[in-house]
Amino acid sequence: MTLEIHEATSSDAADLTEIFLAAFSDPFNRTMFPLTPDVRAWATENLFNGKNKESEHEIFLKVTDTDSGETVAFAKWDRDRHPEEVRVWPISSDKGLCELFFGTMEDHHHRLMGDRPHYYLEMLGVHPSHQGRGLASKLLKWGLARADEESVEVYLSSSPEGKPVYQKNGFESLDSFSPFPGYEQLDMIRPAQH
Ligand SMILES: CC(C)(COP(=O)(O)OP(=O)(O)OC[C@H]1O[C@@H](n2cnc3c(N)ncnc32)[C@H](O)[C@@H]1OP(=O)(O)O)[C@@H](O)C(=O)NCCC(=O)NCCS
Repeated sequence: MTLEIHEATSSDAADLTEIFLAAFSDPFNRTMFPLTPDVRAWATENLFNGKNKESEHEIFLKVTDTDSGETVAFAKWDRDRHPEEVRVWPISSDKGLCELFFGTMEDHHHRLMGDRPHYYLEMLGVHPSHQGRGLASKLLKWGLARADEESVEVYLSSSPEGKPVYQKNGFESLDSFSPFPGYEQLDMIRPAQH
């Protein structure tokens, strides 16, 4: 099996949506985003089709198994923080929970990074059938290498599952919040490497 990283385009939106829904499947994420047709359509249109690209520094990466042609993981990297536009949530989502989660994440990002130059890992997901094979590390290292070339910090907001991967790669936790019982989201920074 050969796994390669490429830049994703809007033609990958449907595949990336399936990976997103399969990977983010814990009770918190399922409460925000139940497996309904409108959630699926919303994710394809709003998260992955590139139409809402806010900056030329945003980049969507995908990992493809070149033997099967299947896409199995994705990451979205940004250079610096770009305040979220007003979001429209899918009809069957828990809109209050979405606002709380994404709003708090954005507030923490603003408070902790301000206008300091940095790379931001906005999204990372690996299909459950391909987890534990180093794909998250590969997508993470892609951005870390760029941050190191520019000697800037890296910021991300980590799910409980992501924490060990980030800790292994030099991230420290600065703060956290709990949007849902039993779920803790961590604000993590990797210092600039000189
Ligand atoms: C978190 C996630 C991205 C990790 O992807 P992955 O491809 O399985 O991770 P990797 O195989 O690159 O693992 C990286 C390292 O972290 C370790 N690790 C991964 N998951 C772990 C876990 N649940 N507990 C302990 N260690 C873990 C691995 O052992 C590996 O260490 P090593 O390099 O020393 O072998 C994946 O589980 C996922 O998509 N989860 C659901 C969505 C999510 O939470 N995304 C992160 C958003 S911030």
